[in-house]
Amino acid sequence: METIIVKSPIEGGKKAFELIKEGMQQDAKVLGLATGSTPIALYNEMTESDLDFTAMTAINLDEYFGLSADNNQSYHYFMHEQLFAKKPFKETFVPDGLANEATEPARYDKIIEEHPIDIQILGIGTNGHIGFNEPGTPFDSTTRKVALTESTIESNKRNFETAEEVPRFAYSMGIKSILSAKKIILMAFGEEKAEAIKNTLNGPMTTDVPASALQKHPNVVVILDEAAAKLL
Ligand code: F6R
Repeated sequence: METIIVKSPIEGGKKAFELIKEGMQQDAKVLGLATGSTPIALYNEMTESDLDFTAMTAINLDEYFGLSADNNQSYHYFMHEQLFAKKPFKETFVPDGLANEATEPARYDKIIEEHPIDIQILGIGTNGHIGFNEPGTPFDSTTRKVALTESTIESNKRNFETAEEVPRFAYSMGIKSILSAKKIILMAFGEEKAEAIKNTLNGPMTTDVPASALQKHPNVVVILDEAAAKLL
Protein backbone atom coordinates (compact mmCIF):
# COMPACT_ATOMS: atom_id res chain seq x y z
CA MET A 1 0.00 0.00 0.00
CA GLU A 2 1.28 3.45 -0.87
CA THR A 3 0.73 6.00 1.92
CA ILE A 4 0.51 9.73 1.26
CA ILE A 5 0.45 12.16 4.21
CA VAL A 6 -1.25 15.49 3.59
CA LYS A 7 -1.69 18.64 5.68
CA SER A 8 -5.48 18.77 5.58
CA PRO A 9 -8.62 17.04 4.27
CA ILE A 10 -8.72 19.69 1.52
CA GLU A 11 -5.24 18.73 0.37
CA GLY A 12 -6.28 15.07 0.65
CA GLY A 13 -9.29 15.73 -1.58
CA LYS A 14 -7.03 17.41 -4.15
CA LYS A 15 -4.66 14.43 -4.12
CA ALA A 16 -7.51 11.93 -4.57
CA PHE A 17 -8.91 14.08 -7.38
CA GLU A 18 -5.52 14.01 -9.16
CA LEU A 19 -5.49 10.22 -8.94
CA ILE A 20 -9.02 10.01 -10.37
CA LYS A 21 -8.11 12.40 -13.18
CA GLU A 22 -5.03 10.32 -13.97
CA GLY A 23 -7.16 7.15 -13.92
CA MET A 24 -9.69 8.69 -16.32
CA GLN A 25 -6.88 9.67 -18.69
CA GLN A 26 -5.93 5.99 -18.61
CA ASP A 27 -9.50 5.00 -19.47
CA ALA A 28 -11.14 4.44 -16.07
CA LYS A 29 -14.90 4.41 -16.64
CA VAL A 30 -16.38 3.28 -13.31
CA LEU A 31 -15.89 4.96 -9.92
CA GLY A 32 -16.88 3.31 -6.66
CA LEU A 33 -17.97 6.06 -4.27
CA ALA A 34 -18.47 6.53 -0.52
CA THR A 35 -20.53 8.91 1.59
CA GLY A 36 -19.69 10.49 4.96
CA SER A 37 -17.51 13.46 5.81
CA THR A 38 -14.24 12.03 4.42
CA PRO A 39 -14.89 12.30 0.64
CA ILE A 40 -16.54 15.74 0.79
CA ALA A 41 -13.30 17.59 -0.11
CA LEU A 42 -12.84 15.25 -3.07
CA TYR A 43 -16.42 15.83 -4.25
CA ASN A 44 -15.84 19.58 -3.98
CA GLU A 45 -12.77 19.23 -6.19
CA MET A 46 -14.78 17.21 -8.67
CA THR A 47 -17.68 19.66 -8.83
CA GLU A 48 -15.39 22.68 -9.12
CA SER A 49 -13.26 21.11 -11.87
CA ASP A 50 -14.02 21.22 -15.55
CA LEU A 51 -13.46 17.46 -15.81
CA ASP A 52 -16.30 15.80 -17.71
CA PHE A 53 -17.95 12.83 -15.97
CA THR A 54 -20.74 12.25 -18.50
CA ALA A 55 -19.05 9.09 -19.76
CA MET A 56 -18.54 7.81 -16.21
CA THR A 57 -20.54 5.39 -14.09
CA ALA A 58 -20.70 5.78 -10.29
CA ILE A 59 -21.50 2.92 -7.93
CA ASN A 60 -21.97 3.71 -4.24
CA LEU A 61 -20.95 1.45 -1.41
CA ASP A 62 -24.02 1.52 0.75
CA GLU A 63 -27.42 2.86 1.78
CA TYR A 64 -29.42 2.87 4.99
CA PHE A 65 -32.10 0.19 5.06
CA GLY A 66 -35.61 1.64 5.20
CA LEU A 67 -34.76 5.14 3.91
CA SER A 68 -36.16 6.33 0.59
CA ALA A 69 -33.99 8.14 -1.96
CA ASP A 70 -35.70 11.45 -1.18
CA ASN A 71 -35.18 11.18 2.59
CA ASN A 72 -32.59 13.84 3.41
CA GLN A 73 -30.68 11.39 5.64
CA SER A 74 -30.32 8.81 2.86
CA TYR A 75 -27.09 8.26 0.98
CA HIS A 76 -28.99 8.76 -2.29
CA TYR A 77 -29.79 12.26 -1.09
CA PHE A 78 -26.23 12.89 0.13
CA MET A 79 -24.75 11.88 -3.24
CA HIS A 80 -27.27 13.98 -5.14
CA GLU A 81 -26.50 17.04 -3.02
CA GLN A 82 -22.72 16.62 -2.87
CA LEU A 83 -21.99 15.48 -6.39
CA PHE A 84 -24.53 14.17 -8.88
CA ALA A 85 -26.72 17.30 -9.06
CA LYS A 86 -23.64 19.40 -9.81
CA LYS A 87 -21.63 16.97 -11.94
CA PRO A 88 -23.67 14.77 -14.26
CA PHE A 89 -22.56 11.16 -14.67
CA LYS A 90 -23.64 8.74 -17.40
CA GLU A 91 -25.29 6.58 -14.74
CA THR A 92 -25.25 6.34 -10.96
CA PHE A 93 -26.13 3.45 -8.67
CA VAL A 94 -26.85 3.43 -4.93
CA PRO A 95 -28.51 0.46 -3.17
CA ASP A 96 -32.26 0.95 -2.82
CA GLY A 97 -33.01 1.31 0.89
CA LEU A 98 -36.66 0.44 0.35
CA ALA A 99 -36.04 -2.65 -1.78
CA ASN A 100 -36.77 -6.18 -0.65
CA GLU A 101 -33.84 -7.82 1.10
CA ALA A 102 -34.52 -11.05 -0.78
CA THR A 103 -33.71 -9.42 -4.12
CA GLU A 104 -31.68 -6.22 -3.58
CA PRO A 105 -28.28 -7.82 -2.78
CA ALA A 106 -28.28 -9.92 -5.97
CA ARG A 107 -29.52 -6.96 -8.05
CA TYR A 108 -26.68 -4.80 -6.75
CA ASP A 109 -24.01 -7.49 -7.20
CA LYS A 110 -25.13 -7.86 -10.82
CA ILE A 111 -24.65 -4.10 -11.31
CA ILE A 112 -21.10 -4.36 -9.92
CA GLU A 113 -20.41 -7.41 -12.11
CA GLU A 114 -21.65 -5.60 -15.21
CA HIS A 115 -19.68 -2.42 -14.35
CA PRO A 116 -16.32 -3.53 -12.94
CA ILE A 117 -15.03 -0.78 -10.67
CA ASP A 118 -11.85 0.93 -11.86
CA ILE A 119 -11.26 3.21 -8.86
CA GLN A 120 -12.90 2.69 -5.47
CA ILE A 121 -13.01 5.58 -2.98
CA LEU A 122 -13.16 4.54 0.68
CA GLY A 123 -13.45 6.18 4.07
CA ILE A 124 -12.93 4.11 7.22
CA GLY A 125 -14.91 3.76 10.43
CA THR A 126 -13.25 4.19 13.83
CA ASN A 127 -13.77 0.42 14.21
CA GLY A 128 -12.02 -0.28 10.89
CA HIS A 129 -15.17 -0.78 8.81
CA ILE A 130 -15.17 -0.11 5.06
CA GLY A 131 -18.55 0.38 3.48
CA PHE A 132 -20.79 -0.93 6.24
CA ASN A 133 -18.70 -4.07 6.58
CA GLU A 134 -18.39 -4.16 10.33
CA PRO A 135 -15.80 -6.17 12.34
CA GLY A 136 -16.36 -9.90 11.83
CA THR A 137 -17.43 -9.56 8.18
CA PRO A 138 -15.90 -12.36 6.07
CA PHE A 139 -13.46 -11.13 3.43
CA ASP A 140 -15.41 -13.02 0.73
CA SER A 141 -18.65 -11.13 1.48
CA THR A 142 -20.76 -9.58 -1.28
CA THR A 143 -23.73 -7.17 -1.09
CA ARG A 144 -26.13 -7.90 1.75
CA LYS A 145 -28.24 -6.38 4.51
CA VAL A 146 -26.05 -5.65 7.53
CA ALA A 147 -26.68 -4.66 11.15
CA LEU A 148 -24.76 -1.54 12.17
CA THR A 149 -22.65 -1.77 15.32
CA GLU A 150 -23.17 0.49 18.32
CA SER A 151 -19.92 2.35 17.49
CA THR A 152 -21.13 3.09 13.95
CA ILE A 153 -24.54 4.23 15.23
CA GLU A 154 -22.71 6.44 17.73
CA SER A 155 -20.46 7.96 14.99
CA ASN A 156 -23.34 8.48 12.57
CA LYS A 157 -25.75 10.05 15.02
CA ARG A 158 -24.06 13.41 14.39
CA ASN A 159 -26.05 13.50 11.15
CA PHE A 160 -29.40 12.83 12.86
CA GLU A 161 -31.42 14.68 15.47
CA THR A 162 -31.21 11.78 17.93
CA ALA A 163 -29.39 8.43 18.12
CA GLU A 164 -32.80 6.67 17.96
CA GLU A 165 -33.29 8.01 14.43
CA VAL A 166 -30.10 6.38 13.08
CA PRO A 167 -31.17 3.34 11.07
CA ARG A 168 -29.97 0.05 12.57
CA PHE A 169 -29.51 -1.72 9.24
CA ALA A 170 -28.03 -0.93 5.85
CA TYR A 171 -27.34 -2.51 2.49
CA SER A 172 -23.61 -2.67 1.89
CA MET A 173 -21.33 -3.86 -0.84
CA GLY A 174 -19.17 -6.67 0.55
CA ILE A 175 -15.42 -6.78 1.10
CA LYS A 176 -14.97 -9.09 -1.90
CA SER A 177 -16.76 -6.54 -4.10
CA ILE A 178 -14.55 -3.72 -2.77
CA LEU A 179 -11.41 -5.77 -3.39
CA SER A 180 -12.53 -6.42 -6.98
CA ALA A 181 -11.80 -2.75 -7.84
CA LYS A 182 -8.66 -2.25 -9.94
CA LYS A 183 -7.44 0.60 -7.72
CA ILE A 184 -8.52 1.63 -4.23
CA ILE A 185 -8.07 5.05 -2.64
CA LEU A 186 -8.64 5.00 1.13
CA MET A 187 -8.81 8.37 2.86
CA ALA A 188 -8.79 9.07 6.61
CA PHE A 189 -8.62 12.39 8.41
CA GLY A 190 -8.57 13.13 12.13
CA GLU A 191 -7.17 11.59 15.27
CA GLU A 192 -10.24 9.41 15.85
CA LYS A 193 -9.18 7.34 12.81
CA ALA A 194 -5.55 6.84 13.96
CA GLU A 195 -6.09 3.50 15.73
CA ALA A 196 -8.09 2.03 12.82
CA ILE A 197 -5.40 3.19 10.37
CA LYS A 198 -2.61 1.67 12.46
CA ASN A 199 -4.48 -1.66 12.60
CA THR A 200 -5.29 -1.52 8.87
CA LEU A 201 -1.76 -0.82 7.70
CA ASN A 202 0.46 -2.40 10.33
CA GLY A 203 -1.71 -4.97 12.11
CA PRO A 204 -2.43 -8.56 11.09
CA MET A 205 -4.94 -9.17 8.31
CA THR A 206 -8.01 -10.07 10.33
CA THR A 207 -11.78 -9.85 10.02
CA ASP A 208 -11.67 -7.97 13.37
CA VAL A 209 -10.41 -5.02 11.28
CA PRO A 210 -12.32 -5.18 7.97
CA ALA A 211 -10.03 -2.63 6.26
CA SER A 212 -7.00 -4.87 6.89
CA ALA A 213 -8.29 -6.94 3.93
CA LEU A 214 -6.84 -4.13 1.78
CA GLN A 215 -3.36 -5.52 2.56
CA LYS A 216 -3.99 -8.23 -0.01
CA HIS A 217 -4.93 -5.80 -2.79
CA PRO A 218 -2.08 -4.90 -5.20
CA ASN A 219 -3.06 -1.28 -5.88
CA VAL A 220 -4.10 0.71 -2.80
CA VAL A 221 -3.27 4.36 -2.09
CA VAL A 222 -3.91 5.58 1.46
CA ILE A 223 -4.29 9.33 1.92
CA LEU A 224 -4.00 10.49 5.55
CA ASP A 225 -3.67 13.71 7.43
CA GLU A 226 -1.05 13.86 10.18
CA ALA A 227 -3.60 13.16 12.93
CA ALA A 228 -4.84 9.95 11.26
CA ALA A 229 -1.23 8.89 10.64
CA LYS A 230 0.02 9.62 14.14
CA LEU A 231 0.21 5.98 15.33
CA LEU A 232 2.06 4.68 12.26
C1 F6R B 1 -19.90 5.54 3.74
C2 F6R B 1 -19.15 4.40 4.22
C3 F6R B 1 -18.46 4.38 5.55
C4 F6R B 1 -17.68 5.67 5.83
C5 F6R B 1 -17.03 5.61 7.21
C6 F6R B 1 -16.33 6.91 7.56
O1 F6R B 1 -20.44 5.30 2.47
O2 F6R B 1 -19.12 3.44 3.53
O3 F6R B 1 -17.57 3.29 5.60
O4 F6R B 1 -16.70 5.85 4.85
O5 F6R B 1 -18.01 5.35 8.18
O6 F6R B 1 -17.28 7.93 7.68
P1 F6R B 1 -16.82 9.46 7.80
O7 F6R B 1 -16.17 9.79 6.49
O8 F6R B 1 -18.09 10.23 7.97
O9 F6R B 1 -15.89 9.54 8.93
